[in-house]
Amino acid sequence: MKEKELVRFGVSMPQELVEQFDRVIAERGYGNRSEAIRDLVRKELLQTDRLAPTAAVAGTVVIVYDHHVSDLSQQLTELQHDYHHDIVSTMHVHLNHDQCLEIVVVKGAYGRLRQLNEAIRVLRGVTYAELSVSHIETSAHDGEHGHSH
Ligand code: NI
Repeated sequence: MKEKELVRFGVSMPQELVEQFDRVIAERGYGNRSEAIRDLVRKELLQTDRLAPTAAVAGTVVIVYDHHVSDLSQQLTELQHDYHHDIVSTMHVHLNHDQCLEIVVVKGAYGRLRQLNEAIRVLRGVTYAELSVSHIETSAHDGEHGHSH
């Protein structure tokens, strides 16, 4: 995403908190406090409890399941076909004799992606299903027509 114009603002914090923060940002290799604060704010904004159902987002659904449970593989496939407009790509990893891990890259309305995640989570044989939102579209235009790179 292209950063638009930068806005400067002052932040007041107790000295001790600033010192702890400076140690953390040095450990993580940030060049300055501004970049570290920008990342903290972005992370907070991606917390899914803040997202409107209509928010246009991209992220992943990570699933772990036992492929021996009858019909489960087929149910998962049918479910992914029901949501094919929202699914960009799926990677399947055979973890061991019984268990599979799938990473489903999703892009669409947050409410719909959450429905997909819940529908997967409740299937018998699924031991893990987690929707992670990595990106929020900030301009409706980007969501509709793609962008120029
Ligand atoms: Ni497998």
